[in-house]
Amino acid sequence: MSVGRAIGWDLDGLPRIVRGAGSYLFDAAGKRYLDGSGGPAAFSIGHGNREVNAAIAAQLDQVACGYRYLFTSEPLERLTALLLRHCGPDFGHAVYCASGSEAVEGAMKVALQYWNARGQPGKSRFIARQRSYHGSTLGALSLSGFAERRAPFVRSLLEVSFVSAANAYRPPPGAAGAPLVSYLAAELEARIAALGAENVAAFVFEPIVGAAGGVVPAPPGYTQAVRAVCDRHGVLLIADEVMCGSGRCGTWSAMEHEGVVPDIIAVAKGLAGGYIPLGATIFRRELGERIMAAHGSILTGHTFSGHTAACAAGLAVQRIIERDALLARVRTRGAVLQAEIRAALARHAEVGEVRGRGYFIGIELVRDPDTKQPFPAERGLSNAIARHAFEDGLIVFPCAGNAGDGLGDAIIVAPPYNATEAELAELTAKLARAVARALR
Ligand SMILES: Cc1ncc(COP(=O)(O)O)c(C=O)c1O
Repeated sequence: MSVGRAIGWDLDGLPRIVRGAGSYLFDAAGKRYLDGSGGPAAFSIGHGNREVNAAIAAQLDQVACGYRYLFTSEPLERLTALLLRHCGPDFGHAVYCASGSEAVEGAMKVALQYWNARGQPGKSRFIARQRSYHGSTLGALSLSGFAERRAPFVRSLLEVSFVSAANAYRPPPGAAGAPLVSYLAAELEARIAALGAENVAAFVFEPIVGAAGGVVPAPPGYTQAVRAVCDRHGVLLIADEVMCGSGRCGTWSAMEHEGVVPDIIAVAKGLAGGYIPLGATIFRRELGERIMAAHGSILTGHTFSGHTAACAAGLAVQRIIERDALLARVRTRGAVLQAEIRAALARHAEVGEVRGRGYFIGIELVRDPDTKQPFPAERGLSNAIARHAFEDGLIVFPCAGNAGDGLGDAIIVAPPYNATEAELAELTAKLARAVARALR
């Protein structure tokens, strides 16, 4: 049996990766690829960073992992202090894991345990949004409004209630005529009422939708409005920042931009930038204190939660982001990059929208810009763009199905925060070439 069949996806024709250096990856044939999307927005400071590698190697030389119930460690303590500082004074706890799915599972479990600790175990239902992705484990998949990924498992998923996506480019049909934010807030409030606030644990959302939408920032005022609805009804607000967080949008937490504080934040991908898998569920002090008082400990986590070398990797990556002022760079240069991409693609009427924040940019392609009608799925446009780009030595992330019913094409651009000017120029030029080729 081929290795591809053995590991569950088709490796035929894929180049063999041998090296990474800065914003580039190299295959065994010596071809160079500019990492224009961090894979799925994961590699926050590029590849082969010597400082990060040295920090990991130094930790491995000492000890790879102290089991979390037996030992603490300096990387664990320092990383936790750094994360809590970034999330703000209301936050008091971080539970570590190795992926975004686990970080979201952790968020669900913290919410459930909190309500249990408060003597309200009936608060066990979750509300999430259509066209969202929260992960592949059964709990996180249950929250995901991503029909294609749910289909084979749907009978075993938790019963989650879905409200509309907060997408100003593709507003829900019922919203016509009404201000979108008021419509969406009213819909959430009505859903909480229908389920009974006494049954609802949390509302879960991506502040900027990633893979399921092709980078969709919520309309201005949305985050404040859903926070207010949750507060009125005693429902926790969980921000899934696995893709959009850890600085990707130019603030450490994507929600910082809105000035809104969630109750629980899930992060992963960019946290340790892919050097070692690392995720975290970070939550308000009040939640943790209630749980500890009632149950003694937070009942989520895994054998390798707080893995020492993984924490050393996360700490090294985050220190570089701080030391080199990369958030400010992403914030200011991201707006310019977005404008450059828009200008480079301006001659294609099929570019329906270029949107996003910081180094998290989405390009949506439509057959008809007036009606926003998507291309037929058979055309496979987003995959074709990503394929042409890859042939030309550029990695971007294709999203298909973002318009619903299996239709829609978008491309995600998410370069390393420390990409150089020349690399960003190369990204824009190669992206424009790939789009032109695919539309030809
Ligand atoms: C917003 C969001 N949440 C959760 C996940 C799941 O993360 P992972 O694939 O690391 O389990 C993803 C992955 O793409 C994601 O984009």
